Amino acid sequence: MKYFITGGAGFIGSEMAKRLLKKGHKVTVYDNLLCGDTSRIDELMNNPDFAFVKGDIRNKQEVIKAIKGHDFVMHFAANPDIAKAIKHPDIDLKHSVIATFHLLDAMRLTGVKKIAFTSGSGVYGDAGDTYTAEDYGPLLPISMYGASKLGAEGLISAFCNQYDMQAWVGRFGNIIGGNQTHGVILDFVNKLKNNPEKLEILGDGKQSKPYIHVDEIIDSILFIIENSKENVNVFNVACDSFTSVNKIAEIVIQEMNLENVKLEYTGGNRGWKGDVPVVRLDIKKLNELGFKIKLSSDQAVRKTAREIVTKLS
Ligand SMILES: NC(=O)c1ccc[n+]([C@@H]2O[C@H](COP(=O)([O-])OP(=O)(O)OC[C@H]3O[C@@H](n4cnc5c(N)ncnc54)[C@H](O)[C@@H]3O)[C@@H](O)[C@H]2O)c1
Repeated sequence: MKYFITGGAGFIGSEMAKRLLKKGHKVTVYDNLLCGDTSRIDELMNNPDFAFVKGDIRNKQEVIKAIKGHDFVMHFAANPDIAKAIKHPDIDLKHSVIATFHLLDAMRLTGVKKIAFTSGSGVYGDAGDTYTAEDYGPLLPISMYGASKLGAEGLISAFCNQYDMQAWVGRFGNIIGGNQTHGVILDFVNKLKNNPEKLEILGDGKQSKPYIHVDEIIDSILFIIENSKENVNVFNVACDSFTSVNKIAEIVIQEMNLENVKLEYTGGNRGWKGDVPVVRLDIKKLNELGFKIKLSSDQAVRKTAREIVTKLS
């Protein structure tokens, strides 16, 4: 198969590129390097089954040129940083909603029929400690990021129904791993490297979410594609446990071999406006399909903290 990976120079897309090449497929990474850089895919550049195209998916003509002849689109390109919309309110509209429309339309025009999309728990809004299943509603996101994921899902569903395409949508918990570009674990490691005596924690530290290692996310995406056959297949993907920000701080401090770190809280129950403090995903549908995330949330956080500390030391 020939795969077209948008955002493939980023954290998750680059891991998918490596996995697909290992499985013997051909892969094109298409990325504008908005928040990625080619360091994650440098090792692939000499592989004859691999191609890198620097381009923006909002430019439909460029996408049409690059996407022709591919069998499957893995769509990872987006602004992945929820807090960025505080200063740039249109960043998610541009890089998730408008970009996804142009990508889908380029697929329609070139006859590429299949797409997998990385959505997120943000589509559910702030549902408190309710375990949200895929049919939970009303869907009222509280961030531009969540709204843009919901908008992109809507476009994907509409294209599938009007133009006979097929889609697999994952609504993921927090995806973590040594190569991540942003997020609380990386933030804590960087802060503690700058000052090992004090750690600033956004909010009250009680925010809690499921954290999943990227290796298991790649497994889950490939499993869902292989085993679900509807026109539009939507699945929550998470482990059945969660980790608080306070626990993350404790794990990072241990992994950096630090002691007596003073924790300072900025206060309030969330990290920033738009942050959903408690995320609980109902994963019955995924489990019934036959897939289970193996690492607990705490184990995934520890593994990632160790990977980041090793990489930055
Ligand atoms: N990391 C998580 O916890 C998480 C959870 C759920 C969903 N997701 C989604 O997974 C996807 C990948 O996330 P990530 O953590 O790897 O982020 P990332 O920033 O590492 O990767 C995103 C890539 O998309 C590229 N990109 C952005 N806009 C583009 C455009 N208009 N045209 C071409 N390329 C563009 C960036 O340059 C970057 O390389 C995103 O859609 C993100 O929203 C991430």
